[in-house]
Amino acid sequence: MFNLNKVIKARKRLKLVTNILFKLFQINLKYREKRKDYGLEINEYFYLPWRVDKEFNEIYSKISQYTLNPTSRLYTIYDLSKKHLLPNSTFIEIGCWKGGVTGLVALANKDKFADYIACDTFTGVVKTSEKDTFFKGNEYNDACVSDVLEVEEISNQQFKIIEGIFPESVDKSLITKPISFAHIDVDTYQSAKESFEYLNKYLVKGSVVILDDYGGWFTDGATKFGNELKIRNEFFVAPNHLGQLLIYKI
Ligand SMILES: C[S@@+](CC[C@H](N)C(=O)[O-])C[C@H]1O[C@@H](n2cnc3c(N)ncnc32)[C@H](O)[C@@H]1O
Repeated sequence: MFNLNKVIKARKRLKLVTNILFKLFQINLKYREKRKDYGLEINEYFYLPWRVDKEFNEIYSKISQYTLNPTSRLYTIYDLSKKHLLPNSTFIEIGCWKGGVTGLVALANKDKFADYIACDTFTGVVKTSEKDTFFKGNEYNDACVSDVLEVEEISNQQFKIIEGIFPESVDKSLITKPISFAHIDVDTYQSAKESFEYLNKYLVKGSVVILDDYGGWFTDGATKFGNELKIRNEFFVAPNHLGQLLIYKI
């Protein structure tokens, strides 16, 4: 079955196809990549468990139109929430857009009596700075509170919705249970940093925060913040190379 010569040949062909694909991406997006640490690689890690997970797919079909996240990343959130969202604790999402991820976590953890907090400006991306090469402000300004309310109904669980620029928007009294699981998906350096530092005050030992946008082609600000976290001793931090940085509070 396993033939090293064939594998080496297949790898060479894959590399060629990958290079062509990356050129096509750049042509389509009218953007020429110059950064040396960015590129496209197709690795031989072909395990795609989300294709066969029945419960995940049932939940996915209910919330997919309320999220921009690809199936692979949603599966990471679903899978980690099962273990790390503790009973009687809080799940919070900063940058919820239409609320699909909050719905996914709520539907996957029905029996935990958790609080679900969904935060967004609902006017798009904010706090852009020189650390963000591509985002200029107001991107993704097409979501509104009523979208999240639709997901709340689908999930059949109560959500607390915080509208405005996080963390300035948050009223402390809304967080009544410790945060054990969080998703930060805000696209820019400053929003990612300020959101994380605020949540850190509420994180219990063993909490997991998923920082979305880490390594994304257009979200280098979030990547820069993620790299700053790597050297902090109070966290175990690992990228999954799907666009998420997994942060575990030690
Ligand atoms: C890429 S979208 C989020 C996608 C969403 N998590 C999903 O699953 O589809 C980024 C969102 O972050 C929000 N956002 C960015 N900075 C924010 C901040 N400081 N406070 C609240 N929301 C913010 C934007 O309004 C936008 O809706």
